[in-house]
Amino acid sequence: MEKKIDQNTIPFKTLYSGEKIPCVGIGTFGSDKYGAEAISEAVYGAVRYGYRLIDCAAVYQNEDSIGEVLQRLFEERTVERKELFITSKVWNDMHGEGNVLKSCRKSLADLKLDYLDLYFVHWPFPNYHAPGCSGDSRNPDSRPFSVDEFMSTWRQCEELVDKGLVRYIGMSNMTIPKLEAVLPLCRIRPAALEMELHPSFQQQELFDYAVAHEILPIGYCPIGSPSRPERDRTAEDVADTQLPAVEAAAHAHQVHPALICLKWAVQRGQVPIPFSVKEPQYISNLKCATEDPLTEDEMKAIASEDKNCRLIKGQVFLWEGARGWEDLWDLNGEIVTG
Ligand SMILES: NC(=O)c1ccc[n+]([C@@H]2O[C@H](COP(=O)([O-])OP(=O)(O)OC[C@H]3O[C@@H](n4cnc5c(N)ncnc54)[C@H](OP(=O)(O)O)[C@@H]3O)[C@@H](O)[C@H]2O)c1
Repeated sequence: MEKKIDQNTIPFKTLYSGEKIPCVGIGTFGSDKYGAEAISEAVYGAVRYGYRLIDCAAVYQNEDSIGEVLQRLFEERTVERKELFITSKVWNDMHGEGNVLKSCRKSLADLKLDYLDLYFVHWPFPNYHAPGCSGDSRNPDSRPFSVDEFMSTWRQCEELVDKGLVRYIGMSNMTIPKLEAVLPLCRIRPAALEMELHPSFQQQELFDYAVAHEILPIGYCPIGSPSRPERDRTAEDVADTQLPAVEAAAHAHQVHPALICLKWAVQRGQVPIPFSVKEPQYISNLKCATEDPLTEDEMKAIASEDKNCRLIKGQVFLWEGARGWEDLWDLNGEIVTG
């Protein structure tokens, strides 16, 4: 690939420490549709093009393939390790005492790295479901959120920082009531909150809460995850790329509506982590943040398209007695504990 983006043109976001990270990263979850090889080759091409932020997770089952291409990139001197910002996440079946360290070491070994830049607790429950399971599968061992259980997982993450295995730690799929309960107990605070964010699901309150606490919002499904697995689809879902304000801006800027979603995300303040294995797509997904910004009016018009349309409802994590997926998200402002 000859095309390469000038790093100086890429806007940055700032972590609580003052460290800067790129305003767009590449996602690596294949949605049960793309295999490890296609995804790792996309990571290879993306880093060569100029991506520096890579969002990984143990449960995506491709960290070993991504490790191979990272090794290649270092050997070819495309980048040095310190130029990359690599995240991973501990999966729900590895929250127990001693398991977070094991999981982190496994991700490090697979990715062939000495350290991770940011390590997330992927979901705030120890509720396991097999990768690729159907939407109505349930695990009888699933249970509601517990502050004590979460904090014992978080303490293990803090120890990873102490050991120098990870530089920052973060949370994902949290709610304000859960954050209110756990933030005062953290010895090392979360640097980032990975959360679903796209024009039809803006989570303004949670977004504002994170920003007010100097926690950087990282937005997943930034294009509305058009290739998401069947288990994450319902008849009520809205397609972000077909929202009138997104389509109008796409027409005005002469770009694909996906790029309008990403421009909106970057200009609003979150770090989107779009996924694509297609070179023209992942190139334009980063490039679009460096040129031709949306106008204030376009930003406002997209802000008014919020439909509270959560795509990743998490129903496979429900416990016995839960009423429905809404129980995972504390919609009444209190942690649902039963
Ligand atoms: N923390 C969490 O719990 C969590 C949950 C979900 C996701 N994530 C992370 O967030 C990342 C992104 O989420 P996602 O993959 O679900 O959704 P997404 O990035 O919103 O959507 C990805 C899909 O959008 C299409 N696309 C990408 N770039 C495009 C472009 N320039 N033009 C047109 N279409 C384009 C592609 O569809 P086609 O394949 O059809 O081309 C691609 O598969 C994941 O890979 C993962 O790293 C984290």
